[in-house]
Amino acid sequence: MSSVVDNIIYRSMTLEDIPAIIAIEQEAFTSPWTAEAFTNELTNNMFARYMVMEESGQVLGYGGMWIIMDEAHITNIAIRSDLRGNGLGHKLLEQMQRTAVFFEAVRMTLEVRVTNELAQHLYRKYGFQSSGIRPRYYSDNDEDALIMWAELDIERLKTGESMF
Ligand SMILES: CC(C)(COP(=O)(O)OP(=O)(O)OC[C@H]1O[C@@H](n2cnc3c(N)ncnc32)[C@H](O)[C@@H]1OP(=O)(O)O)[C@@H](O)C(=O)NCCC(=O)NCCS
Repeated sequence: MSSVVDNIIYRSMTLEDIPAIIAIEQEAFTSPWTAEAFTNELTNNMFARYMVMEESGQVLGYGGMWIIMDEAHITNIAIRSDLRGNGLGHKLLEQMQRTAVFFEAVRMTLEVRVTNELAQHLYRKYGFQSSGIRPRYYSDNDEDALIMWAELDIERLKTGESMF
């Protein structure tokens, strides 16, 4: 699956993308996933959908989710650190919500560090609301996770209309 918006290509992640993904993952997260973890997701997890955001052959960011029945659970989302703050996170999340609706999800959930206010701010713009805490969810520093849920605006996401 792929689509082109504003010269940015959104397409399914492949095994060949993993080195570029790992480079972004390592600068984005204190407990980054390994190449093996991504390989496993792409080859063994029938619920997994991973998307790459690309321009002129360069990976700008990526996002992944598990779509189970009518629920999409975001596993990770990251933009290359030198490109952050330019609206790419908005665009990627929008495209992930469109993809979730394409696969017939009606709601979306994720966990985010309680201190990651920037990501929470972005998620709230896309309909996410906090619904609880997973205590000490992140083992690197025992930080709590905020659980967030969004009801997907199916009619808007099925059309070309963008929030951003
Ligand atoms: C979270 C992340 C994906 C957002 O991507 P991004 O491209 O930087 O986000 P955008 O440029 O679309 O900006 C999103 C919002 O954050 C704000 N923002 C972005 N960078 C900012 C900064 N350095 N300081 C303050 N606000 C900032 C933007 O102004 C925007 O808010 P607005 O819509 O009110 O203007 C990106 O920061 C990232 O990869 N972070 C590391 C990984 C991570 O934390 N992932 C989420 C795990 S749950």
